[in-house]
Amino acid sequence: MEVKILNHPIVKHNLSIIRDKNTDCERFKNALKRITYSLIYEATANLPTINKIIETPLCEANCEVFDSRAQLIIAPILRAGMIFCEVAQELLPFANVHHVGMYRDEETLEPVWYYDKRKDIKEDKDKVFVLLLDPMLATGNSAVDAVENFISKGVKEENIVFVSLISSPEGVKRLTDAYSKVQIISACLDDKLNSKGYILPGLGDAGDRIYNTLD
Ligand code: URA
Repeated sequence: MEVKILNHPIVKHNLSIIRDKNTDCERFKNALKRITYSLIYEATANLPTINKIIETPLCEANCEVFDSRAQLIIAPILRAGMIFCEVAQELLPFANVHHVGMYRDEETLEPVWYYDKRKDIKEDKDKVFVLLLDPMLATGNSAVDAVENFISKGVKEENIVFVSLISSPEGVKRLTDAYSKVQIISACLDDKLNSKGYILPGLGDAGDRIYNTLD
């Protein structure tokens, strides 16, 4: 099972705020934002850079910059994945955002597609990188479908990173069994799924908590 977990006190502290059922929407989003920076840094650690000479006020410096021939696609799985988008765009302003519209059928737990907003994907597929964003890697069904969608467009499996806040062992297994080269970055790995496909201990319904739509 391949998943990179962020093991950091700032992440752990903010996760405790997020998990707490008494945390209101504003505090929930602020805590999640603090963790998102670390997730996006980790998820982009292997993006290609090229050398560039920069003139400092004193002399030349050998620097590294993003390779402008590469295409980076930020792909939030709607709706909860949007919570990662603002920080991801702040850190990666040159990226294209490709919204992936899916919801989970509550009976079958299978994803239902309703939107697939795509930007043209570059010819040179070695240089296309996708960050798939979803705070909850639960059953793994949406994750597998979303990865499949990008692979069907020619994106290389090893160039896809799945970014989640909380993962379940079942979701990690489902995704790695299907696509072993997809890297998974998560703030933590929880215990298990309940019978309704929710992660335990988890945080409840991420979309409801982010968008304040709890009953
Ligand atoms: N989606 C959520 O929002 N929460 C879960 O625990 C599982 C899936």
